[in-house]
Amino acid sequence: MPRLLRSRRVLPAFLLLALPLLALIAAAPARAEEQPAGGDIAEKATLCQSCHGVEGIPVDPSIPVIWGQNEGYLYIELRDFARGARASQVMGEMAKSLSREDMKALAHYFAVKPWPALGQKPADAATAERARVIANSAQCSQCHLDGFLGASLVPRLAGQSATYLLNTMKDFRSGARANNPWMSDLLKAYSEDDLAVLAAYLAGL
Ligand code: HEC
Ligand code: HEC
Repeated sequence: MPRLLRSRRVLPAFLLLALPLLALIAAAPARAEEQPAGGDIAEKATLCQSCHGVEGIPVDPSIPVIWGQNEGYLYIELRDFARGARASQVMGEMAKSLSREDMKALAHYFAVKPWPALGQKPADAATAERARVIANSAQCSQCHLDGFLGASLVPRLAGQSATYLLNTMKDFRSGARANNPWMSDLLKAYSEDDLAVLAAYLAGL
């Protein structure tokens, strides 16, 4: 992430809008150290099924949906897992075994699949209202866009697993997920209860 985004000051609106572009520049491929793609990508993708699900429904609520997630975002996360910028024992090992071409191909492979319905209940009216107040105050939709569908390097949040959403927001806040200091700084302003409200609301969209 560009150093600018580490600032704790409120960012001017143009920077918020420019974020996807900045992230794109930050994501410019590093040359060298590339391994050949090798192997059929559908075959590699079967490795992912044991956790992310055969039909896109993760086998455990702590595992995120990757079917139908935005392609640029999927690639960035695989890259960050491999580099250790986003710490995860499971995904770190997995991503290190992939070449950059594999990561790009896997990101595309999963992005074009349909987003699976996890069957999570919509939040009740009071929770939804509270979530909307928080989301407006933090301008979540500036980046995650209408309906929280995200685009490009910004992830879709709508219909994502509630357990995963809460865990990862807590990880951003504690710094355990350190690959986006801007998200970390933003979520530090909210209590755990607020995060639970947001997770319940987003999961039910
Ligand atoms: C052993 C179980 C397991 C396997 C196999 C696995 N994953 Fe994961 N994956 C996880 C878990 C758990 C997380 C959440 C990690 C965290 O937040 O700490 C995750 C997170 C991710 C994310 C981040 C999604 C988001 O919303 O931020 C991506 C992308 C991903 N996995 C892709 C893959 C791909 C591609 C494969 C196959 C090459 C794969 N995973 C195989 C368990 C697994
Ligand atoms: C300035 C733009 C911006 C704003 C505002 C923003 N986000 Fe994000 N958010 C991002 C980006 C970019 C990522 C992806 C970070 C990465 O590369 O891992 C992200 C990631 C996330 C994730 C992780 C999703 C996953 O699949 O792991 C969650 C959850 C999230 N944001 C929730 C929120 C909520 C809730 C708000 C409002 C309180 C918010 N965001 C406001 C840009 C933003």
